[in-house]
Amino acid sequence: MKVDGRPTRSIALGSDGWSVDIIDQTKLPHAFRILQLTSLDDAVRAIRDMLVRGAPLIGATAAYGIALAMRADPSDAHLRLAYDSLLASRPTAINLRWALDDIVTVVRRETPARRAAAAYARAAEICDEDVAINDAIGEHGVGLFAAIGARKSGTVNVLTHCNAGWLATVDWGTALAPIYKAHDRGIPVHVWVDETRPRNQGASLTTWELQQHGVPFTLIVDNAGGHLMQKGQVDLCIVGTDRTTADGDVCNKIGTYLKALAAHDNKVPFYVAVPSPSIDWTIRDGATIPIEERQAKEVTEISGRGADGRIVPVAIAPDGSPVANFGFDVTPARLVTGLITERGIAPASAAGLATLFPERRGA
Ligand code: MRU
Repeated sequence: MKVDGRPTRSIALGSDGWSVDIIDQTKLPHAFRILQLTSLDDAVRAIRDMLVRGAPLIGATAAYGIALAMRADPSDAHLRLAYDSLLASRPTAINLRWALDDIVTVVRRETPARRAAAAYARAAEICDEDVAINDAIGEHGVGLFAAIGARKSGTVNVLTHCNAGWLATVDWGTALAPIYKAHDRGIPVHVWVDETRPRNQGASLTTWELQQHGVPFTLIVDNAGGHLMQKGQVDLCIVGTDRTTADGDVCNKIGTYLKALAAHDNKVPFYVAVPSPSIDWTIRDGATIPIEERQAKEVTEISGRGADGRIVPVAIAPDGSPVANFGFDVTPARLVTGLITERGIAPASAAGLATLFPERRGA
């Protein structure tokens, strides 16, 4: 996608041919900063501290983390250390394990002298594959907008949660890919953007992306979606996923489940954009997915740009307030209208997924 008119990916090989450029997403929307990752530790920190975030981008960054590790020391012991430390950096998004298993299989086949080159090559392919997958999700999802646009006159109103745009992937995004394509094809689209407490990825990232691309949007507080649905102001919801089970249960940013409940109650279609690396074929029940719990400070503080232009954190709760900060929740398959994958749209069920991914049947 474009930043100030320039085509940009969220992660790319640096101009020196070995370091890795990322966008420091903790600085958006107030500053657009490219950061250089030069070591395994840099990659682990970038994922853990959410300089990069979003399931597909976490996977891509981990792949480059293995490449950086192999450049420094291609031994078996270092490969194991790199795998373990990257895998532990965030627990919920399955793309992390998917990318690590994939690239480590490739690297292990090589002699130590060839491991770094093999890892860089596979990391680049993983990035390109992610772009192609999201492009295809966009192509399948845009049909939903065309169908609603043909049924009603005027703008198609879509609600999304968190950030499942190009910043959460290598390019295009998952949930936002159909929205970008609908907009680019002249279908009038308007996006309701959930702010997405506690880290506000909707308010800071989704708004910024949509603004850069010229897609009309309105930022809303997390609690407003149900009201809008009751008033008939939401035609469909599309969200992303950090892990979808083989039976179609969807784990995504905390608050997704409440939107799905409200959508169900108001007969608003609720779609999930699911790239296949976000499917965990090894589990069926979403209740078994590990849910990340993050620092209390994310809940007790909020930070933003002050009147003097500086970014300042402010406390919003009494000092010492006990806090629970769950990063994700699980939306049961029965509340999901369909899964938009790179191979088409399937019902959220084992049978639905098996029609699109027959090679995974019984995996
Ligand atoms: O905690 P985050 O910002 O990594 O959470 C991101 C989300 O929940 C996204 O919806 C999900 O990763 C899908 S991204 C295409």
